[in-house]
Amino acid sequence: MAIPVTSILLIVAVTILSTTTRFVEPSSDNNNVFSPCTDATIQRSDGFTFGIVFASRTAFFFNSSVQLSPCDRRLSLSNSQLAVFRPKVDEISLLTVNSSTFPPDNVGGYMVAFAGRKYAARSIPAFVANSTYIVTSFTLAMEFQKGRLQNLFWKRDGCSSCSGKSNFVCLNNQDCAIRTNSCKNRGGTVDCSIGIQLAFSGTDKHESVFNSWYEVKNLRQYSLFGLYQNLKDSLTSQYNSFF
Ligand SMILES: *[C@@H]1O[C@H](CO)[C@@H](O)[C@H](O)[C@H]1NC(C)=O
Ligand SMILES: *[C@@H]1O[C@H](CO)[C@@H](O)[C@H](O)[C@H]1NC(C)=O
Ligand SMILES: *[C@@H]1O[C@H](CO)[C@@H](O)[C@H](O)[C@H]1NC(C)=O
Repeated sequence: MAIPVTSILLIVAVTILSTTTRFVEPSSDNNNVFSPCTDATIQRSDGFTFGIVFASRTAFFFNSSVQLSPCDRRLSLSNSQLAVFRPKVDEISLLTVNSSTFPPDNVGGYMVAFAGRKYAARSIPAFVANSTYIVTSFTLAMEFQKGRLQNLFWKRDGCSSCSGKSNFVCLNNQDCAIRTNSCKNRGGTVDCSIGIQLAFSGTDKHESVFNSWYEVKNLRQYSLFGLYQNLKDSLTSQYNSFF
């Protein structure tokens, strides 16, 4: 199964799993919005640009109370790292962030996914890492209505993918975490790069229904890693040895 890397932006690689169900449709990208802080209305076959900001949890809240979009200038995101992705709409993608060049705990250890301005959508802050633990696998569902992004959800499986695996610790009954000191450059041998499985739900601007979320929903986290042929061997083989 050949899965090409289709784009590399900033600190991240976007890997598209190109074997999902396809329908007869134009395969071109007609979305000319490339900024994550601009509103876009998308259809199947488009690319869709969104961002993920890594920062401390409190940095995402205005006046310690209201969570704003990272595009909102009232937030001070001075100690943060931005990653911009442009996956293809309704394809299952695995986004990777190489944490050996970018330790997420250095900027506060939380991440928020976001897109849009007038119709701004943002996820809640998800814990990624602190000095003790790092969570390396996430599933992000993007919900659209008539082609406009409505919501971004972190989907969790209550640690079922790591229960009984001694390399993992279950945090708060929701996240499978690895000890930071097992990571490369931190004293250990594991490549603690972060993988974000992406899926689309809802409808595009022609009210055509997205399917990729239903394809991902029943798969366990990590189960798709072996399919991403061009992920570094270190990453795939270490997960294979865990499971
Ligand atoms: C910030 O919060 C404080 C205390 O809750 C409140 O008095 C103040 O009006 C808020 N400021 C803004 C700009 O919302
Ligand atoms: C992350 O970067 C390091 C250093 O450049 C490299 O050795 C490692 O293979 C990379 N990991 C992945 C998953 O790309
Ligand atoms: C790291 O996060 C875990 C889970 O939230 C928490 O139990 C632990 O106390 C944190 N460690 C540090 C050093 O902040």
